Amino acid sequence: MLRIDDIQLAFGGLKALSGVSVHAQAGKITSVIGPNGAGKTSLFNVISGFYRPQSGSVVLDGQDISKLRPSQRAYCGMSRTFQNIALFHGMSVLDNIKLGAHTNLKSGVLSAGFRLAKTRREERELSAEIQRSIIGLLELDHVQHHHVEDLAYGLQKRVELARALVMKPKILLLDEPVAGMNSEEKREMSRFIVDVRNNWQTTVLLIEHDMSMVMGISDHVVVLSFGKPIASGTPDQVQANPEVIKAYLGSNDEPAASATVAA
Ligand SMILES: Nc1ncnc2c1ncn2[C@@H]1O[C@H](COP(=O)(O)OP(=O)(O)OP(=O)(O)O)[C@@H](O)[C@H]1O
Ligand SMILES: [Mg+2]
Repeated sequence: MLRIDDIQLAFGGLKALSGVSVHAQAGKITSVIGPNGAGKTSLFNVISGFYRPQSGSVVLDGQDISKLRPSQRAYCGMSRTFQNIALFHGMSVLDNIKLGAHTNLKSGVLSAGFRLAKTRREERELSAEIQRSIIGLLELDHVQHHHVEDLAYGLQKRVELARALVMKPKILLLDEPVAGMNSEEKREMSRFIVDVRNNWQTTVLLIEHDMSMVMGISDHVVVLSFGKPIASGTPDQVQANPEVIKAYLGSNDEPAASATVAA
């Protein structure tokens, strides 16, 4: 579904990514792990088009999207969440989720003033569609009309996931979806990610430091260290890889943590 090949990305003298290739298979959960500063978020920014690499290619479902802007990549079926929560305070859960479709609404912002009726109808249809397909799946029914800032942290992260799903993406990029969560929230989020994949066959590319989550739900794991790929394989293969264990020594993460989350 997604082929990222031989990415080179430098910020001045700092090589953030060198020779990074990741292939995410359709309908599978592929994870990118690595110690702090390894280049994981930079890789996501390259994939989603926020950073232009010096070389390398990004191919989504057979189409080379390397030259496309982030919004164009979204149209091609790519969606992402961010490492830090990016929700709009003062707005309801449902309205925040609806923002995930702003590029999809036929009436643009300018024409909205002139064609209010059409816009309102589109918005109503969008709300109904979101309530049918996403709110239920992610169990957000009881909070859909609450302001996002009133929700517990774990629920806010779930709203972000919901917003990323509105465009029915072919591929979903999740940057640390369980960072800062308690173990109950982590288990729930893992379950929702697996549910989304199982229900919609969405291809998932995941960045995460929580090793029990990664090892529990991933089909394939790629390990970066100082901007370079050092290992890839199944969770079991990666956990047993001496290079991986070495890269994590002295960091706070635990690559060999036993898998406790059932896929
Ligand atoms: N816009 C930027 N300008 C300059 N340097 C950057 C920029 N973005 C990232 N970097 C550098 O690139 C390297 C990789 O950073 P990145 O955020 O991709 O790491 P990460 O693996 O996501 O780390 P973490 O696990 O802490 O989120 C770091 O040395 C970082 O300082
Ligand atoms: Mg990061």
